[in-house]
Amino acid sequence: MNAKTSPSVAWAAAMGRALELATKGPLTGGNPRVGCVLLDSEGAICAEGWHEGSGTPHAEVMALANARAAGMSTKGLTAVVTLEPCAHTGKTGPCAEALLEAGISRVVFSVDDPGVDSSGGAEMLEDAGVEVIRGVMNHEGLTLIERWHHAVRASRPWVTLKWAMSWDGRAAAADGTSQWITGPATREKVHQDRSEHDAIVVGTNTVLVDDPSLTARTPSGGFYDHQPLAVVAGNTEVPATAKVRAHPGGFRHVPGHDPIALLRELFAEGIRSVYVEGGPTLASAFIEAGVVDEIHITVGPMLIGGPSTAVRDLGISTMSEAIGLDIRDITRLGDDVVVTARPRSGK
Ligand SMILES: NC(=O)c1ccc[n+]([C@@H]2O[C@H](COP(=O)([O-])OP(=O)(O)OC[C@H]3O[C@@H](n4cnc5c(N)ncnc54)[C@H](OP(=O)(O)O)[C@@H]3O)[C@@H](O)[C@H]2O)c1
Repeated sequence: MNAKTSPSVAWAAAMGRALELATKGPLTGGNPRVGCVLLDSEGAICAEGWHEGSGTPHAEVMALANARAAGMSTKGLTAVVTLEPCAHTGKTGPCAEALLEAGISRVVFSVDDPGVDSSGGAEMLEDAGVEVIRGVMNHEGLTLIERWHHAVRASRPWVTLKWAMSWDGRAAAADGTSQWITGPATREKVHQDRSEHDAIVVGTNTVLVDDPSLTARTPSGGFYDHQPLAVVAGNTEVPATAKVRAHPGGFRHVPGHDPIALLRELFAEGIRSVYVEGGPTLASAFIEAGVVDEIHITVGPMLIGGPSTAVRDLGISTMSEAIGLDIRDITRLGDDVVVTARPRSGK
């Protein structure tokens, strides 16, 4: 750190780099994206690490290993890490312990670990005499791992609900056909969004009417590296010939009509984010249950009319009960409009 740079400015700069490194890790899976840099006594970055996904070394451990591989002593270094170092043994050992063993003298981190089992790393380090500074670039750190963080705190996966509709709010024509309301650019985005969630959920009737494959495909037609688990919700048996049964990310039929129970079941299996693709009955059930975190409304340039509204009855009888939306983004893709919004007040 040079004489003119205050420590907090230098840590923020290092945290900026740690946040950048974290994005090399996967958006999906049971573990969050984490980045770490090690600083020498001058405040210069001397080693870097990030987490590449469940079962692989955590960011701190990768950074320590990289320092050692470069012939450096780790004693007295500062570790700047995007998430509080964990204190528990999962598929790998506790990072707080690894930092202590390495002789790290200061740990700067952005976000407290919300996990019941994994938190406590900061306390462990402080008890051992390590200086701990928390909350540096906290907003950016939280934004990076928003879905995972929300899921761990709520004990249910993050829910993105998506539907396609015409400008008059219809999700299908009277005969049930709905392909395609939106154009190729929007459908490319949908495929990418699928690849960025742990699971996709649809209702049984969408499988019966559309027989979708629900795979996440790149614009050139190949599969994205990450394929979400394909989940069909509802009591009707999924036909043996349904395309979704051959989904490369796996297939699951979950009978029942309780979105909260469904989410709990998926969370217990390590699912931290789900992409709910409808149809309208399932979408409405998720909204009514108050478990939708973000809505992607894609609007195609047409009018359909008729009874197939994008959202069914929500039990709302007067305007004061309407569910307000915070609009986060409005993008034009070709002739479609894609709106990203978040329901207000928990609904
Ligand atoms: N525009 C779009 O974005 C879009 C997306 C998907 C589908 N679609 C269109 O929508 C139409 C199908 O819509 P849909 O609403 O009938 O189908 P859906 O929502 O896919 O399926 C409805 C069925 O899901 C089951 N289910 C699971 N959880 C439920 C819950 N919590 N509450 C109520 N039911 C639950 C029930 O069946 P069980 O009896 O089996 O329990 C219910 O009848 C098709 O025309 C399709 O093309 C449009």
